[in-house]
Amino acid sequence: MSKFKIFVALSISTIILALLVLVWISVSSLERGRIIYESGCNMCHGPVGVGRPDLAKDLEIDQIRMDLTATRNIKKTDAEIIEVIRKGRGRMKGFDQSRIADKNLKALVSYIRKLQKSNK
Ligand code: HEC
Repeated sequence: MSKFKIFVALSISTIILALLVLVWISVSSLERGRIIYESGCNMCHGPVGVGRPDLAKDLEIDQIRMDLTATRNIKKTDAEIIEVIRKGRGRMKGFDQSRIADKNLKALVSYIRKLQKSNK
């Protein structure tokens, strides 16, 4: 094999490897987000994010206010969603560092974005 062919082969394998690593990182981040969502948010916002009707009834609020997939929440920036998670809103208490670490917020928001996409 010529040096050039070896160079091309090495370059292509490096690119494929880098792509695989990127896919792996994004899949594992989404998976982390799912686990956090299911342990901290699912009980009120439900498995697909639209809010639990029974809870809305108990809290005497309109279920739409708990719908994370509603247009107003699709329009929120990541920072705005993170602010609600940290500070809480209405009947929802905020989650501090000890419950959700800063480094996991992005993964959680990505998972919420995924719910927003699959519900439309
Ligand atoms: C104890 C129940 C409960 C839990 C647990 C909970 N939420 Fe909420 N959440 C609510 C309620 C109720 C509202 C509506 C508050 C209001 O508007 O009065 C809300 C509102 C929100 C909103 C704002 C929605 C909007 O339309 O402005 C976001 C974003 C949100 N929650 C994200 C989360 C995330 C992410 C988690 C998990 C880390 C979570 N919540 C956990 C009950 C909960």
